[in-house]
Amino acid sequence: MLQHYLSAADLSHTAAETLLQRAQELKAEWRNGSHRPGSNGELPLQGKTLALVFEKPSLRTRVAFEAGMVQLGGHGSYLSANDIDMGGRESIPDVARNLSRWIQVIAARVFKHATVETLARYATVPVINALSDREHPCQALADMLTLQEQHGKLSGLRLAFVGDGNNVCHSLLLLGARLGVNVAVACPPDYRPNPEILELAERYAAEHGATMTVTASPAEAVDSADAVYTDVWASMGQEHEAARRRLIFQPYQVNSTLMALAKPDALVMHCLPVHRGEEITADVIEGSQSVVFEQAENRLHVQKALILTLLNL
Ligand code: CP
Ligand code: NVA
Repeated sequence: MLQHYLSAADLSHTAAETLLQRAQELKAEWRNGSHRPGSNGELPLQGKTLALVFEKPSLRTRVAFEAGMVQLGGHGSYLSANDIDMGGRESIPDVARNLSRWIQVIAARVFKHATVETLARYATVPVINALSDREHPCQALADMLTLQEQHGKLSGLRLAFVGDGNNVCHSLLLLGARLGVNVAVACPPDYRPNPEILELAERYAAEHGATMTVTASPAEAVDSADAVYTDVWASMGQEHEAARRRLIFQPYQVNSTLMALAKPDALVMHCLPVHRGEEITADVIEGSQSVVFEQAENRLHVQKALILTLLNL
């Protein structure tokens, strides 16, 4: 049973496969306009509320959660840093214990990963990591669903991640490893993924016949890749480092020269928002191999599946 979803590592191989299967079914229902009511004629989340506790801005995560709740018969309650000032006006344990008395699930987007862990420790309802400085596990679910849809499988694929060894990279390593995807990361030496996360991913990968590699060479990572993924060079909270990072990461730009080294049908992936002309050129992100809006759409389907799973529905 999945109690919280704080890290992509919280899903076993089977749990991840089941969740993706469920997301696919929800997507098919959504596409043909049917929402399946339960035996009592009610939608599954009738009367249920998801609290969205967000310390940072969001388009995709917030709207996918709010729309997903409405589509399943429930409701989302958005609480920005200005509303509750978690850790300032009210302690994190108190926020968790108050919310647990009114609502059924908490999704939190935070600066420090420890904040989602504290919320989970004190909440009596499931807590979802909607992005922390360490991981972005909801994004990785949408990315795996997209890869599976586009390539018809996951196991044995080669996913190259080019750029910062950041939260998005960490969750891709962990979930990719669980699902047998070979993940090849190319990053500047000082921006490698967290060694503990890499070690964990390597352990999972070994169980599923996959490999996790980290190199300083984008060409090496992208060689024969089935998908090439990148993310911004300065994440939320690192804006003050943006100018320095632009210089360091310049050789890691995903452009047509780099894409020529991947398989001819390689997918172009990005979690968005994008800085065109920095981590990826406009022609590549707008090109026919780009699936960035499929990834964005799939946030809706995987997050609905995740909430249903956490509520044992
Ligand atoms: N990809 C993603 O999480 O987007 P938002 O920051 O807009 O939620
Ligand atoms: N790495 C980025 C992802 C945004 C969705 C950030 O944390 O800002």
